[in-house]
Amino acid sequence: MQKTIVITGGAGFIGSHVVREFVVKYSHYRIVNLDVLTYAGNLENLRDIEDKENYTFVKQDIRDFDGVLSLFRALKPDAVIHLAAESHVDRSISDPTSFVTTNVLGTVNLLNAVREVWAGNYAGKLFHHVSTDEVYGTLGDVGLFTEETSYDPHSPYSASKAASDHFVRAYHDTYGLPIVITNCSNNYGPNHFPEKLIPLCIHNILNNKPLPIYGDGKFTRDWLYVVDHARAIDLVFHGGRHGESYNVGGFNEWQNIDLVKELCRQMDEKLGRRAGTSAQLITFVKDRPGHDLRYAIDATKINRELGYTPTVTFEEGLSHTIDWYLANPDWLANVTSGAYQSYYEQQYK
Ligand code: NAD
Ligand code: TYD
Repeated sequence: MQKTIVITGGAGFIGSHVVREFVVKYSHYRIVNLDVLTYAGNLENLRDIEDKENYTFVKQDIRDFDGVLSLFRALKPDAVIHLAAESHVDRSISDPTSFVTTNVLGTVNLLNAVREVWAGNYAGKLFHHVSTDEVYGTLGDVGLFTEETSYDPHSPYSASKAASDHFVRAYHDTYGLPIVITNCSNNYGPNHFPEKLIPLCIHNILNNKPLPIYGDGKFTRDWLYVVDHARAIDLVFHGGRHGESYNVGGFNEWQNIDLVKELCRQMDEKLGRRAGTSAQLITFVKDRPGHDLRYAIDATKINRELGYTPTVTFEEGLSHTIDWYLANPDWLANVTSGAYQSYYEQQYK
């Protein structure tokens, strides 16, 4: 194996697609999936590649510095691609502290561990931090986030991600640690946990349950198919300039209400339901506190420097996503049993 790459959070939604992208494409890299398996981590996401020779899973909590350090001493990683995080805005509103311990302290633990094992010998080494466009705060009706946009987070989730980005950049500026950061817009696709808008609505349409739309539904997000995000991470990991950040997005803005209507339309078609059936489930509910109006990414830099463009149109990606959930009812049933029920009742009571 030419390189050992630790991918943190590899059992989660995006992490599992990144692990697959690297395991399949780079048979000469040893890929180590480091994940503590919270409610959002699911090894079922990786069944198709778990027997590959260049793949290993290690259960480890990034909040446990000693555990991370001894693992890194044993593995001697050449690089870390860091996705492990608490990732849901609504959960960050009810439990902000776990976002600090995992997203901020966990990131600093990883940075300290690589500093220790790399010991100033940074040739061929890289810490790739995966972050979000939510660190930039909110846009009005016009404009796009560029890499120069000032950070202005509003939710405990985005504040914790912003803090982690600052630490990663500070370790580059202070200690010379080789780093890159990617800030991506909203992802969607297979294996998305049904606490987030799209999989939650797919799950509820299948069960004839209300589709909760926060506020007036005019909040706007820029949606990117998850495999296109994994490709962007691959490009930046291999070709991004160290010390730099790269915005990743789909140039694909949707107001929540329009997106859910399109989802309803496609679901009715696929389920053989009369047109308009699922849309009747749309229910406007109390708004999320501190709800950011609009996110939209200017992805010019990654396009210009690394030739990146998304390959999957939203219509194709959404259709493929719905097909995946329809073909994997067991996956959905497993993740929505038990603790999910109490989360759902608490959040939507
Ligand atoms: P996710 O919640 O689906 O998965 C997170 C993973 O991290 C899970 O497998 C979980 O078990 C693991 N994890 C959590 N706490 C851990 C800990 N203390 N130690 C080890 N592992 C831990 O999240 P996601 O949506 O796949 O997001 C992955 C990353 O991408 C996050 O850093 C997130 O901020 C970022 N991001 C997400 C989006 C999005 O739309 N989902 C967009 C841009 C950036
Ligand atoms: P979400 O998928 O939680 O992602 P994020 O908050 O990180 O953008 O939410 C996407 C949008 O959908 C956001 O504007 C909040 C809204 N939303 C609802 O209207 N209802 C819901 O039940 C959820 C989970 C989200």
